[in-house]
Amino acid sequence: MSAAPAHDRIAVGSYDVHVRAALLDHVGDIVRTAAPAHRYAIIADANVAPLYGARVRESLGAAQTELLTIPAGESHKTRDQWTSLTDALLAHGFGRDTTILALGGGVVGDLAGFVAATYMRGVPFVQLPTTLLAMIDSSVGGKTGVDTAAGKNLVGAFHRPRAVIADPATLASLPIAQLRSGAAEAIKHGAIADAAYFASVDSSLPAAFDAPAGDAMRALIVRSVQIKAGIVMLDERENGVRRILNFGHTLGHAIEAESGYRLLHGEAIAIGMVLEARLGERLGTTKSGTAQMLRDTLQHAGLPVDVPAHLSGAHILAATRGDKKAREGVTEYALLEKIGSAVAGIRASGDVVLSVLEDGVGR
Ligand SMILES: NC(=O)c1ccc[n+]([C@@H]2O[C@H](COP(=O)([O-])OP(=O)(O)OC[C@H]3O[C@@H](n4cnc5c(N)ncnc54)[C@H](O)[C@@H]3O)[C@@H](O)[C@H]2O)c1
Ligand SMILES: [Zn+2]
Repeated sequence: MSAAPAHDRIAVGSYDVHVRAALLDHVGDIVRTAAPAHRYAIIADANVAPLYGARVRESLGAAQTELLTIPAGESHKTRDQWTSLTDALLAHGFGRDTTILALGGGVVGDLAGFVAATYMRGVPFVQLPTTLLAMIDSSVGGKTGVDTAAGKNLVGAFHRPRAVIADPATLASLPIAQLRSGAAEAIKHGAIADAAYFASVDSSLPAAFDAPAGDAMRALIVRSVQIKAGIVMLDERENGVRRILNFGHTLGHAIEAESGYRLLHGEAIAIGMVLEARLGERLGTTKSGTAQMLRDTLQHAGLPVDVPAHLSGAHILAATRGDKKAREGVTEYALLEKIGSAVAGIRASGDVVLSVLEDGVGR
């Protein structure tokens, strides 16, 4: 049995995030230490399973491992899929001595994590993220769940993974729009916590996009995971400081929903970050000039920065009211103080938000 090669490891409390190109071939080495089990169930979607499923299965030992495939896309992050997956695990005779592995983007991570949180009252879980968003955001922090007709992520559980294994080489098959969308979260990490990182994301993204298995992408993933991990460890249940991770997301989620989910998450969040920086400037929370710096960096990354002209400011504002972050009718925002520092729980009246929205429409 070979050991995993030397690689970056970021500790997130009880578990580590492992980062290195081609680490997918060493999943078995890491899992046999972090989450050893009698049998392994890999859950992947229909895009990712044929690309990487067999390698992970080989690494874990094909005889003890099943690969369960679900349809791809957010519309399948549902209780129905949870039912199918738990029924499939039962039909295959998986017992308590099982580790579940999520191989894919955030949809598979959230759904498989929720299956792991509930199967036999909870079995060990390992994340194998294959999108940039999943590597730097959704796989770290222990939130799992599914969507319902009433909204996204409304049914779920906190269930920490035993390990997160990120192989940046898998990003070579990811469509560029998805890569850019994930990069929006890296830019967010710099904006809320680390001005030097913000600048380095701006300068290193072209190289990272060009060669996902290379050093620029590895460094970006490592630093973003460190930032997210640092925040999550202070506040795992999101009662306090973790809320700064929502910067750009109150208006961003509303825009994402109002676009009928035609905008990718990171695209909507890019627009939301520019708007929320402007909001912060108007409220006096954010140093002036910050919104322009963000706008330049996001545009440089190939992300949209204006509200699509066909969306209504009033509808976007109304959509923020249904957000989990809305408290007692007044919406709270996580805003920047400047690039590199953020504060959560800032209340903003509908009037100010509406005026920012109306000024932010693309011309
Ligand atoms: N749990 C959390 O803390 C948290 C945080 C942020 C986002 N999320 C969730 O994450 C989800 C979004 O995740 P996402 O952006 O990764 O979307 P996704 O999982 O839908 O993946 C995007 C697309 O890329 C495909 N794909 C994935 N990896 C690939 C690869 N290496 N090569 C080719 N194609 C690949 C997928 O099949 C899918 O079509 C949302 O449901 C969101 O709610 C969760
Ligand atoms: Zn996000």
